[in-house]
Amino acid sequence: MSGSDPKSAVVPHLKLQLVSLDVLQALSVSNADSAPNDRQSSGLAASVSDVAPPEVVVTSCAPLGDGEVTAADLGGRLTADLGIDLARRLRRADATGKPGEVVTVDLEDDTTETLLVLGLGDGSVESCRTAGAKLASHIERASVVLCDVTAAMSHAELAAFCEGLLLASYRFSRKSVASRERKVTVQLAVAGKLSARKVLNRVTTTVQAVSLARDLGNRPSNEKNPQWLAQLAVKTGKANGLRVRVIDEAGLRKGKFGGLLAVGAGSSQPPRLIVMDYRGEPTAPKVVLVGKGITFDSGGLSLKPADGMPLMKTDMSGAGTVLATMSALRDLGVTANVTAVLACAENMPSGSAYRPGDVVRHYGGRTSEVLNTDAEGRMVLADALAYANARLRPDVIVDLATLTGAATLGLSRQYGALFSDDAGLAARLVAAGQESADKVWRLPLVPEYRAALDSEIADISHVSRENIGGGAITAALFLEEFVGNRRWAHLDIAGPARAEKASGDKTRGATGFGVRLLLRWLQDAPELW
Ligand code: BES
Ligand code: MN
Ligand code: ZN
Repeated sequence: MSGSDPKSAVVPHLKLQLVSLDVLQALSVSNADSAPNDRQSSGLAASVSDVAPPEVVVTSCAPLGDGEVTAADLGGRLTADLGIDLARRLRRADATGKPGEVVTVDLEDDTTETLLVLGLGDGSVESCRTAGAKLASHIERASVVLCDVTAAMSHAELAAFCEGLLLASYRFSRKSVASRERKVTVQLAVAGKLSARKVLNRVTTTVQAVSLARDLGNRPSNEKNPQWLAQLAVKTGKANGLRVRVIDEAGLRKGKFGGLLAVGAGSSQPPRLIVMDYRGEPTAPKVVLVGKGITFDSGGLSLKPADGMPLMKTDMSGAGTVLATMSALRDLGVTANVTAVLACAENMPSGSAYRPGDVVRHYGGRTSEVLNTDAEGRMVLADALAYANARLRPDVIVDLATLTGAATLGLSRQYGALFSDDAGLAARLVAAGQESADKVWRLPLVPEYRAALDSEIADISHVSRENIGGGAITAALFLEEFVGNRRWAHLDIAGPARAEKASGDKTRGATGFGVRLLLRWLQDAPELW
């Protein structure tokens, strides 16, 4: 199967460049003289000589509290030089300074044509992320943009601002003629270039991982199948210091991975179990990340209605998120030992497909009675979780899956559903989600609902017999049967894994949800987990 390396397709039209604060000083001087040549002779010329003059300058504005807003210093100086009353302009535009608000001021100056006054709200990490994301659509037509808004930001705020800007600029296309996107250089004013460079490196690694997850989800299913994912995992492993093992069909048979084999049986593209190892510090804890990798979910013989089916190319988002997370561990210096287990299959109807009423024997020997072939995610995850528990001996297991429509019904698109009986683990994951903009909400594993999964002929029935509702919960209860006594959390990301429209730094289509949450969590000190 052809296709370029997804990792190379990361926001190629946007380049971030750090500039020191004193460049802003020079810019103001050159505008006051309004003769470009004077800049060369100015005492500040040395600091600007390697930096292209911007045609757009982004300055910040924040609410003052009494309904008034205040613009940052540079905006004031630039406009004052040109005889523009910025405060009046902002009043006339009803500016509130809320995060991401943009007021455009035309400077009609030779060098700097436009001043964008960007709202930073309370200046929090969250507001900076929103502001960065909103700014993306306002600078598409520029070639050099100077942001003074970053000058006063802390490292965490700067990171969020850049993440927002880069991720909101993400594009995926299969058009035969590439849209002519202009290359934009965004200059970020910072006090200390050296430390800001480190921040930017981490941001770039994170954004590359999120973009990889988005690329994988957005990629149409005629361009991805379990084997393709396995090849990509091998390639990603080579580039990022991971050991990768792929268990193919024969291996799955030998290992008795009945769930993966059943779900994959209807497709001409055989299933794969992909295992990726990252070695952190020898004494650090071991985490297993499990991902649902259904490269297309037609529902199988319990066929889905036509309307929702195209979206099911994103049904491998759990595996995509885990794979992408693995790609960033070495660059981010994660100390934990992390193993990924990706359960990959294509769920198709055919003469060889698994059937409602079948009884499947999972890895490790437990049996489940299939009632609806569209509940295929838990079938493949059961094998992967049982394998992780029995063979990998982890301290913690976290699985991610676009598992149920019910999770979307309950929480819609902004929150993933988190299940865990381990309150400490749940709290850490909720916090990591809050900090990283991949928010999750904890739902209960209600023991009373477990009886709905009782089967007369197998160990467990794979969906509820009675219609008791709570589909996301009963799915989680099914998975719980396969994790032994391990500390375990399950993230049902059916809602936030894809977006119908862009919101914040999440673009339409696959969102790469969970990459930032996992990376945030893994970067925290392991004793906190
Ligand atoms: N991949 C779907 C879940 C899904 C639905 C993800 C909508 C994203 C958007 C999953 O395999 C599925 O079909 N689940 C069924 C389970 C049911 C048959 C018990 C569902 O949620 O309807
Ligand atoms: Mn399904
Ligand atoms: Zn599915």
